[in-house]
Amino acid sequence: MQPHRYIIANWKMHGTAHRVREAVYALDNATRLLSGAVSIILALPFPYLHIAAVARSHGSRIQLAAQDVSAHAEGAYTGEVSATMLRDVGAEFVVVGHSERRQHHAETDTLVATKATAALGAGLTPIICVGETLEQYKAKQTIAVLGQQMQALQRCELSQCLLAYEPIWAIGSGLTPNRDEIAAATAFLHTPTQEGRDSAKAVVYGGSVNPSNAAEILATSNVSGALIGSASLNEASLITMVQIAAKG
Ligand code: PGA
Repeated sequence: MQPHRYIIANWKMHGTAHRVREAVYALDNATRLLSGAVSIILALPFPYLHIAAVARSHGSRIQLAAQDVSAHAEGAYTGEVSATMLRDVGAEFVVVGHSERRQHHAETDTLVATKATAALGAGLTPIICVGETLEQYKAKQTIAVLGQQMQALQRCELSQCLLAYEPIWAIGSGLTPNRDEIAAATAFLHTPTQEGRDSAKAVVYGGSVNPSNAAEILATSNVSGALIGSASLNEASLITMVQIAAKG
């Protein structure tokens, strides 16, 4: 049986309503009849989620992700968006603990775990990002760093979560770890955090994935998909990567 793949497009803080409409239209047209076990997930800024939600309600296979979620269920948290609200507007996934949130919004491993739990509670699938800095990579601390980040997720029902191995130094840099390094890190992420606990539903790789390296990365052991930033902003590139994933 062909393995299931995930192509997750992370648009970060890019786009306009017009651009999102164009991209959703093109992606929907190119993928509606595509066979192959591939989930196509578009992680959009909050104000644009409804655009993809409309397409989804008309039979598009594009699924929606938010790029962040509040750790709180409801209340006086100005500017926050709850997991229930995201579910309410049609999101099925949410990216949690992206390194840009850890870096610019001081998100800790504990907060990331709380957000993942909040997401699960509302029926969203968290896509939890983990990964090491360049210094840690050079010091060969990748597995130790991942171990620490995973430790905080001990209480999460990982069988309901996707994990994204995203080396921070590979994001937006054009650099990627080699296949053996990706395979080793993702094999580690497949290991349950504790004896008796389930492992993640799937592990994807993110960091400078593009149409030229997607086939090789997707063929790496333990890798069930890709979380793609800049190369996903171009719909032709994104469609190419979805087609590569659909080939298995
Ligand atoms: P990139 O971003 O593909 O532009 O490297 C990946 C990410 O930040 O998830």
